[in-house]
This record gives sequence, structure tokens and C-alpha cells, in this order.
Amino acid sequence: MNLIKKLDKLPPTREKVETIEILRQATKAANALGELKGIAKTIPNQAMLINAVVLQEAKDSSEIENIITTQDELYKAIATKGKQTEQVKEVINYRKAIFTGYDLIQEQGFLRMKDLEVIQKTIVENNAGIRSMAGTVLKNNKTGEVVYTPPQEKEEILYLLNNFLEHFNLTQNDLSPLINLAILHYQFESIHPFYDGNGRTGRILNILYLMLNGLLDIPILYLSSYVNENKSEYYRLLNKVNRIDEWDEYILYILRAIEITSKRTIEKINSIKDLLNETIIIAQENEPKIYRKELVELLFEQPYSKIDFVVKRLNVERKAASRYLNKLEKIGILKSQKVGREIIYMNKELIKILKKH
Ligand SMILES: Nc1ncnc2c1ncn2[C@@H]1O[C@H](COP(=O)(O)OP(=O)(O)OP(=O)(O)O)[C@@H](O)[C@H]1O
Ligand SMILES: [Mg+2]
Repeated sequence: MNLIKKLDKLPPTREKVETIEILRQATKAANALGELKGIAKTIPNQAMLINAVVLQEAKDSSEIENIITTQDELYKAIATKGKQTEQVKEVINYRKAIFTGYDLIQEQGFLRMKDLEVIQKTIVENNAGIRSMAGTVLKNNKTGEVVYTPPQEKEEILYLLNNFLEHFNLTQNDLSPLINLAILHYQFESIHPFYDGNGRTGRILNILYLMLNGLLDIPILYLSSYVNENKSEYYRLLNKVNRIDEWDEYILYILRAIEITSKRTIEKINSIKDLLNETIIIAQENEPKIYRKELVELLFEQPYSKIDFVVKRLNVERKAASRYLNKLEKIGILKSQKVGREIIYMNKELIKILKKH
């Protein structure tokens, strides 16, 4: 007997998604997020922050799908443009998809159906698009049991997806935007519009929704590290909404994820800021002749740097660029390593910070 009900369109009834406990947790999450938004602004070079955090998220979000890469593998692949493993490629595609979405939100201020398709296509690198063939079901990874059957008819998928987009783009809403984020995420995952990449596309939509609502200026809050640590709970709670239309535990989960990941990101940004200041001082004191602000900032934008990057950024000859990097290695700021034919210079203290969750 199939007890699973058909997916309703948005919005759910208010009583189901706005309990006192949810409202309290929504306030906590909003406070932490507000603080993060403020602190992010105090980083002098925003590209620095975005690069580092987005790559970390690309790695974490892909890990939910069991695409495991190491940080070193990733950065080296980016710095050297060498042969990439399938897994590294997926992570790099994910990062590209985040930036694609970010550009769309900045340019348009809303998302259309075809934008969702572009984001998903960038992740999975195929043209399958929105599901048109029946047969997609969600199974329990371990037992193989079917836990949820998303809508099968293309017409119904499109209808629900249009309804989803209407709500996604509606920035004036009675509900707190963070409660809405949780609802929208559930809905997107339950429509499950694509054959693959629904989880990763949905996680990118989360960050885009925060920016659309002015809760963040740049894409730096990601729930994936939290979801990774509490994965079975994530699946269980999505499923609880599917089965019995009980939203509260699921919404609380997402709100807690927002609060905790905001706090972690604040800590991370503070550490990066301190390290940047320390690095500037060490370079100024020990190598005043080569010290340049842009050079230090480059090492924070590209934690794995190389001579070419310095040549381009500072407009200097290769010889000079190489001398700068070697001097910075001598005073302990960088550590070099040969990868293939390239020498990669690692900002090792920064990498340590980025590796912490
Ligand atoms: N019971 C459920 N109801 C609705 N959505 C679910 C349910 N269980 C899992 N999901 C969603 O489906 C996603 C997996 O779908 P899919 O494989 O298409 O995405 P992915 O990006 O390839 O994978 P992953 O999310 O594992 O990285 C999960 O991340 C989750 O968001
Ligand atoms: Mg998948």
C-alpha cells in the first residue's frame, strides 16, 4: 500500500510552519546571519573571501553525493590546469554553478525556469534537463527501499516548479525569509525536477535565496558542512514532511543549520582577517622592498599560487615574480611544492584555516 501523499503546491498552512519554537529559532538564525553579513563587509578584498569559501562549499556539497576530494587535490587542479579526476571536475563544476547563479541573481534579481536548468546543467554536465520520463524514485541508500516518489508527469513537474519559482521570487512575504528558505528547499527537493543533481542545485538555490532577500551580499553561507554531519537526519526529516506533512522538525533543522554555519563562517572570517594582518606585518618588516598589498592579497585569493598569477596581477617579469615568491617562502609565509612542471606556492596558514569546517 502506498501511503505517500501527492506533493502539494506552496504555501503550506501557516500553523504547520510557524510554531513558537520555530519563531524563536528563526530569530537566532537571523541574528547569526546578520552578524555574518556585517563581518563579511569588513574583509578588504571580497574576492578573497568568496574564492576560499565557495571552494570549500563546492567540496562539502559534492561530498553529500559521495564525491570526495581533498582540498589539496582541488587547489592544485585549479592552479595547474592539469589533468583532473572526475571528482575534482565535479567539484569545480559545482563552483562554476554557484557563480553562474550569483551572476544571474545580481543581473536580474529573480530566477526563471531556464536559469534553474542552466545551474543544474553546469553541475551535471549533460543536457537531460527537466525530467520527461517517468521512473525516478528516491530510495534509501542502505536498504534500497523506495522512500519517496516525486511527481512523474512532466506537466505536473512544470506546474509545481512554476509555483515554486513564484514563491522563490517573492521577496515580500508574511513568513520570515529563513522559514521560507526551509520550505522552498523542501519543495524543490520534493519536486525533484531533474534526473540528477537535485540536491546540489537545491543547495545553490538556498544561497541565492539569501542574497535575493538581502540577507547576504556575497555567496558565503553554506549549509552543506552541517548537512554532511547530520545527513541521515536531513533525509529523515525531508521524508517526514513527505509522509505526514509535519514540518516543524524539518524547519528547525534548517534554521539550526543556518545558525551554526553562520557562526562557523564568522569564526573563519575572523581568523582569515587576523592572518591577513599578520602576514602584511611580517612581509613589511622582513621584506620591505618587495612588500605590496596586492601581492599579499593575491596569496589570500589563491591559497595555492604560482609565478604566472603574480606576473598577471602585479604586471612584473617572471624573474621578479619568482623572486618575490621565493622571498616570501624564506620568511615563512609560503611553502613551495613541485606539481608536475609547475611550482605551487601554498599559503599554508590560510589553508589550515580553510580546512577547519
Ligand atoms: N524524502 C525526500 N524527500 C525529498 N527530497 C529528498 C528526500 N530524500 C532526499 N531528498 C533530496 O534528494 C537529494 C538527492 O537527489 P539527487 O541525487 O538528484 O541530487 P544530487 O545533487 O546528485 O545528490 P546529493 O544531494 O546527494 O549531493 C538529496 O540531497 C535531498 O536533498
Ligand atoms: Mg545524485
